[in-house]
Amino acid sequence: MKPTWIASAVLILLLLAALPLSFQLWPAPVPLAAAVDGGQRIGGPFELQGPDGRRVTEQSFEGQWLLVFFGFTRCADVCPTTLVQIAKLLDGLGEQGARLQPLFISLDPERDTPEVLAAYTRFFDERILGLTGSPEQIRQVADAYGVYVRKVPMGDTYMLDHTGSVYLMNPAGELVSLISPQRTAADAAREISAALAQAGNG
Ligand code: NI
Repeated sequence: MKPTWIASAVLILLLLAALPLSFQLWPAPVPLAAAVDGGQRIGGPFELQGPDGRRVTEQSFEGQWLLVFFGFTRCADVCPTTLVQIAKLLDGLGEQGARLQPLFISLDPERDTPEVLAAYTRFFDERILGLTGSPEQIRQVADAYGVYVRKVPMGDTYMLDHTGSVYLMNPAGELVSLISPQRTAADAAREISAALAQAGNG
């Protein structure tokens, strides 16, 4: 009996010792865009690639509200969850949703080609537009939005630790609201609906 007991104790100790390690390996909760309270202006011009490989800039969406979200298609957690929430909130907005263009901007341009992104966003909702670009273009737009991103090695591959917030931008290109990934779709839809209503039909 005694050796078994010792073996169990050793196993439990090993499991306990592995806990902090597993927390490090698991993508940590990502901080909200830190830049917002840093006085930095969020948003601005960008040049990216659409699903058909065509050039897309901020001017491609004149008169539209934008819901901007950054991520990558191999994300195991925050991205798929948030895209499901975005699809739900678009449904919640009903006709008002037509004034809103959701953008999913890849932080992983090496792996997220326009085709990969298009297939991915379509899976969640046809209305979500996936944008990618050169590493320089992605860096530029991520910086403009104060997005935090860090490569995390995982065996012979990597994941990305990144900002999970969703940016609501008005047609003037100004940040109206930063929607935390913890918000429910219904709650976010209410806030966006109020912002759209307040801005009138313009
Ligand atoms: Ni993600």
